[in-house]
Parts: sequence; structure tokens; C-alpha cells
Amino acid sequence: MIKLGGIELDVPFYQAPLSGYSEAPMRMLARRYGCPLTFTGVLLDKIALHPKAIRSLKFQPGDDEHPVGVQLLGEDPATMAAAAAAFEKVGYDIVDLNFACPVPKVVRRMRGGYLLTRPQVIIETLRRTREALTCPLSMKVRIGFDGKAESRDEFRGLCEQIAAEGVDMLTIHGRTVSEKYRGKADWEAIAEIKRAHPHLTVFGSGDLMDPETIVERLETTGVSGVAVARGAIGNPWIFAETRALLEGRPKPAQPTLYEQGLVMLEHFEMIGQLRPERQAAPFFRKFVTGYCKRHPQRKKAQMAIIAAKTRQQLVAEITEWFQVR
Ligand SMILES: Cc1cc2nc3c(=O)[nH]c(=O)nc-3n(C[C@H](O)[C@H](O)[C@H](O)COP(=O)(O)O)c2cc1C
Repeated sequence: MIKLGGIELDVPFYQAPLSGYSEAPMRMLARRYGCPLTFTGVLLDKIALHPKAIRSLKFQPGDDEHPVGVQLLGEDPATMAAAAAAFEKVGYDIVDLNFACPVPKVVRRMRGGYLLTRPQVIIETLRRTREALTCPLSMKVRIGFDGKAESRDEFRGLCEQIAAEGVDMLTIHGRTVSEKYRGKADWEAIAEIKRAHPHLTVFGSGDLMDPETIVERLETTGVSGVAVARGAIGNPWIFAETRALLEGRPKPAQPTLYEQGLVMLEHFEMIGQLRPERQAAPFFRKFVTGYCKRHPQRKKAQMAIIAAKTRQQLVAEITEWFQVR
């Protein structure tokens, strides 16, 4: 059992923030398949300063998806703290501060991963946000800004300060900001931080695409837990499979095509409730490759479903390829 303030995780994983993906529909499905905690994709703190925006359905947690966290991006400690408080008020159970995002536009605006070069801004944000919140607070970082030795030292120094300040969870993505998503995640760099700060709740992230790898990382690195990201896109079953392995049970049988098809249709339907019709199909299309991975005719099914133009065609293709009858 892992405790993040008042939140209890009965298994050591959560669904990572995934911008453009982890809206309520993906989060709900993750929960259904046994994921104990999920996060929104990263949101710019300034959204919270617009009361109309924060009240919009898209930014609100659903009644039946708790515990759920919100992840925030910003550059000014006071604004991030105010945004964190506003998101707690609309019902999020934990706030995660993003100091990891490598997107060039974000880095140029001195947000996300850029702030790894400004550790004092990170610490100031941590302090102010903690004061503004009653719910748990977590942070996401990468293993440094770039591959230079000074960057790695700065990262180690930052983790030391974070451990001294105290935070409910620190998630470390095992790549540098300049690596973006290239190469392999450096799990030794993550493990080193956990060894140096045994009392800090350290979650690792990077290249967790299947349940066996997740269990292996948990067993060999000593981290408190892991964040499942790309491995969960179009694949909520990864949570049930990982849970079974961790609990010493055999991995569940593959979901039938029928079950996969039903989940796809439900996912699409839920997206349609949150977004206008013209956006729903393009948004859902991003999940199709993931959902088709287990299909015996993976490529063909994927191409046919992605090619569907209208809502009706998309539903018809899923129904046909996944034998939902
Ligand atoms: C499409 C996409 C969107 C992402 N969005 C976010 C985000 O909003 N916030 C965040 O902290 N990380 C984000 N990440 C990073 C993931 O949470 C995760 O740390 C990273 O993908 C490494 O894990 P993986 O290799 O298992 O996918 C994103 C990654 C991808 C691929």
C-alpha cells in the first residue's frame, strides 16, 4: 500500500498524464481495469484564472473517477499555486507540477523542463503550492536538462532539495529534456535517486509498454512505483494484467475481440459526450493504433478504422472488425 497524503494506492502504479489523451474517457477506462490513480494531461495554470474555463466539463473530474489528479504547467510560482488551489476546489484529489515537458514552445516560454535549469523556481513553486493546497502534492521531473555532467549534478541537487522540503510523490522520467522521447529511459538514474532518498516516494517513468517490463522495473530498481504512459494508450487492459502479475496471479486471458470492440465503442461514445462531433472522431483516431495491437489482422483493422470519415462509418468499422454483434 502506498500513501500519497490521504490517497491510498493498493498497487504501485498510476496512469501518467498524457496530453491529448488522458481526458475523462481514458481515465475512466483505466480505473475500470484496475488503475488506482489517473491524471489529466498537462494544463496551463492560467486556465484556472478563467472561471468559465475551469467550470467547463472538459476540465472537471467526473463523479465516478476518484482519485484523479490534475497536472499543471507554468512559470510563475504564485500563479501555479493559485491554479493548484482552484483545481483542488473543482474536485481534483492531487496536484502534480510539471517540470518535465520538453515541447520546444513550452521550453522557450521557460516552463516545464526548462525549469530544471532554475531549481530555485521549482523549490519556490513547491513551497507556495503546498501552502495553497490541502490535498496531496506531487511533481514530475526528468533526469536533467541535457546530457552534460553539470545538468546531472543540478538534477541530483534538485532531488536533494525536494526530499528535504518533502513532497507526496516525485515522478522521474528517465530521459533528459533535450532527449525528448528519443533513446531509452535511464532507469539507473531513477534508481540512484531512490537509493539516495529512501524516504522519498519516487515513481519511475519511461518505456513501460507491457506488464512484464513494469513488474521487472519495480523489482529491480527499488522505486516506490511507476507511471504507465504510452503503454496504456488504447490499452486499458495493461492495468489488469500488471495487477494480476503483482498479486502473484497468472496474467488474464487476452480480452476477446468482442470485449475490445465494446471498449472502443464506449471510449468513442464518451469522447462524443465531451467534444463536438467534428472533433470526436479525430480525437479518437489517436487511440486506434493502440486498440488494434491485439487484433489478428492488426494493420488492416487499423487502416480501415482510421480511414472512416464520419461517426457512423467509424462505429460501423469497429463493429465489423471487432465482431461486436
Ligand atoms: C503523447 C504524449 C503526451 C504526454 N503528455 C504528458 C503530459 O501532459 N504531462 C507529463 O508529465 N508527461 C507527459 N508525457 C510523458 C509521459 O507521461 C511519460 O513520462 C513518457 O511518455 C515516458 O513513459 P513511456 O515511455 O512509458 O511512454 C506524454 C507523453 C506522450 C507520448
